[in-house]
Amino acid sequence: MEKKKLKWGIVGCGVIAPAHGKSLAKTKDAELVAVCDIVRERAEHLAADFGNPAVYTDLDEMLEHADLDILSVCTPSGMHGEHITAAAERGVHVLSEKPLEITLKKVDSAIQACRKAGVKLGGVFQRRTFPTSVEIKKALDAGALGKMVLGTACLKYYRDQAYYDSGDWRGTWELDGGGALMNQGVHGIDLLLWFMGDVRKVFARTGTLLRDIPVEDTAVVSLEFASGAFGTIEGTTSVYPGMDTRIELHGERGTIILEESRINTWKTLDGVEREQEVIKGEGAKVASDPSALGPITHDVLVQDMIDAVKADREPLIPGEEARKAVELILAIYESAKTGKEITLL
Ligand SMILES: NC(=O)c1ccc[n+]([C@@H]2O[C@H](COP(=O)([O-])OP(=O)(O)OC[C@H]3O[C@@H](n4cnc5c(N)ncnc54)[C@H](O)[C@@H]3O)[C@@H](O)[C@H]2O)c1
Repeated sequence: MEKKKLKWGIVGCGVIAPAHGKSLAKTKDAELVAVCDIVRERAEHLAADFGNPAVYTDLDEMLEHADLDILSVCTPSGMHGEHITAAAERGVHVLSEKPLEITLKKVDSAIQACRKAGVKLGGVFQRRTFPTSVEIKKALDAGALGKMVLGTACLKYYRDQAYYDSGDWRGTWELDGGGALMNQGVHGIDLLLWFMGDVRKVFARTGTLLRDIPVEDTAVVSLEFASGAFGTIEGTTSVYPGMDTRIELHGERGTIILEESRINTWKTLDGVEREQEVIKGEGAKVASDPSALGPITHDVLVQDMIDAVKADREPLIPGEEARKAVELILAIYESAKTGKEITLL
């Protein structure tokens, strides 16, 4: 007898929604049964590409009628909390796009709503699922680099003005919650935190150097981690042609540099020597094309969410974990605004 498939829905049928659709098409354990967008044609378009699930233009209606087990939240960032909460209140588990929300109040309220309803809340940070990221995390946890000295995130991307003009929520404080860091840089900031641990102190400078947007298109950040290590973040969406995401990790016993999903350098005093590893299918396009996600996308997180629901365990990136990058980015904005160092711990 065929096992019962979990019923999955998607709210928000724009740029990122097909990544969820594609990953769902690859699993045997769930099926996409409903999609929702306030713009009907977008929902219809997504439905046509992914097996013709039911189409809705109102989330409450979809939650009322579609009998969902899991919902992907793919709406503009400042709507995630409202949509996560609506699902939780109907007993539906949630996989939410990054950032989880754009203020800590809204993040915490969404996490709380899921905890109260007893549903799972998973965050999307697909870079954590790269095999190289998992390998690095394991090595760091095992002390491969010894005492950590420096952690650097180089997050230099290219988005032209047309990108910001392509959606009325893009580059706004109200719905994007920020710019180069809260939207694009959040992935690398999450990785840096995952690898290096919590941040104790932050000092930052942000600015809007090229684009006609109210939020930052460029930022430089100085960090002190709870471990005592230092760190920096350089984030921008205004450099042509856009560079690969680069995370540099330096400890007393060696260095690991991750570029996109490949190891650029892994050298330790124990004699490990790895350099310039190539991963098939990975191009620099990710840095300049918002719809390009590279060869590794949402598959692991979608399957993990299914497995978490079935096994009644936490997903790979629970809400509390996805909260961390938002907390740091908000502290960066606060430091830039006040000209003061912000203490987080
Ligand atoms: N994981 C990634 O790499 C990645 C990449 C791109 C975007 N994202 C995230 O995904 C989210 C969406 O980004 P996007 O680029 O797909 O945006 P988008 O503007 O292309 O799509 C958002 C869609 O939500 C719809 N929408 C707005 N309000 C709605 C409502 N109340 N009910 C139903 N639908 C509604 C819009 O009509 C639009 O079609 C953002 O939070 C973004 O940060 C993640």
